[in-house]
Amino acid sequence: MYILGIESSCDETAAAVVKDGHELISNVVSTSVAEQALYGGVVPEIASRRHVEFISDTVKKALDDAGMTIRDVDGVAVTFAPGLIGAVLVGLNFAKALAYAADKPLIPVHHLRGHIAALYLSHPELKPPFLCLVASGGHSHIVQVQDHTHYKVLGRTVDDAAGEAFDKVARTLGLGYPGGPAISKAAREGDAKAYRLPVPKVEGRYNVSFSGLKTAVLNAVNQAEMKGEAIDVNSMAASFERRIDEILAEKLLLAAQDTGADKICIAGGVAANSLLRCLLNEGAQKLGAKLYMPELRFCGDNGAMIAAQGYYELLDHNIGGLDLNGLATLPIDYNGQI
Ligand code: KG4
Ligand code: ZN
Repeated sequence: MYILGIESSCDETAAAVVKDGHELISNVVSTSVAEQALYGGVVPEIASRRHVEFISDTVKKALDDAGMTIRDVDGVAVTFAPGLIGAVLVGLNFAKALAYAADKPLIPVHHLRGHIAALYLSHPELKPPFLCLVASGGHSHIVQVQDHTHYKVLGRTVDDAAGEAFDKVARTLGLGYPGGPAISKAAREGDAKAYRLPVPKVEGRYNVSFSGLKTAVLNAVNQAEMKGEAIDVNSMAASFERRIDEILAEKLLLAAQDTGADKICIAGGVAANSLLRCLLNEGAQKLGAKLYMPELRFCGDNGAMIAAQGYYELLDHNIGGLDLNGLATLPIDYNGQI
């Protein structure tokens, strides 16, 4: 079965064709990230406008690259939640029109379910149940993936998402947007032991909290400024990256140990972080669990992950009507009741 996937929930306008939930046929990503970088973060109105400009060509190229027309696909999958609502609506309305005109099923896909489905593209042999950390710009969840469309959230951030913390700290350090890659690059030249950053206390065994960490960096920068001292940006980036990655890895491994998970996964933009990948490799080996990580090209937002998840939603008869609405927030375990 061939599914066309469409994604527009943040600053990437993306479309892809995927066969049977794991075989990549085409993948096109257009992005307004360079323009967003001028403002130090995503400006929702700019994201929406660029989606409107990019969406037709992006979807057309995904079909062209696949050597297909809309008649050849078995369904149109689209991110309908969660995300920047103006941005989500562009992809959703485009997908609705396309599905209606071509008489194809419209398949609503939850963005975080899509991030998890990126794993099936990189590891076609991977099947639920497994444990997954989904860490992006808007969410940080530790999730038990029970089957391809059923999830149990074990832990989450109580304040900032991991990607959001990377972005905010990068901004404080003058490293630009997006913060994750910028922090990693600076960290390579720094000493991770140079600054002692706190381990935030948080209720809930698998919950995480990053706002205290972010504030600690901000305070250090402000205090240095007041004293007329220079902060060692590379070492602060390294200290921050190590602390946040240690917290993420520790919580995921703790959840894996408690639940006896033999398959541990990560997904979402933050899953591209090489130190996190390294820490989890070591930790999973110690636990005797197998670690699965998406290829870097599938960590950030893309249409292929939406098409992959769309396949499983279609098999589960999760089909949307023309009255389907976009939502800024929606739990990952909504189970069909939209
Ligand atoms: O999943 P994603 O592409 O979009 C959302 O759904 O939010 O995640 C974007 C987030 C940004 O906050 C970005 O800074 C972070 O992922 N990110 C990283 C890395 N690459 C992207 N964070 C840490 N290390 C990276 N290498
Ligand atoms: Zn995302």
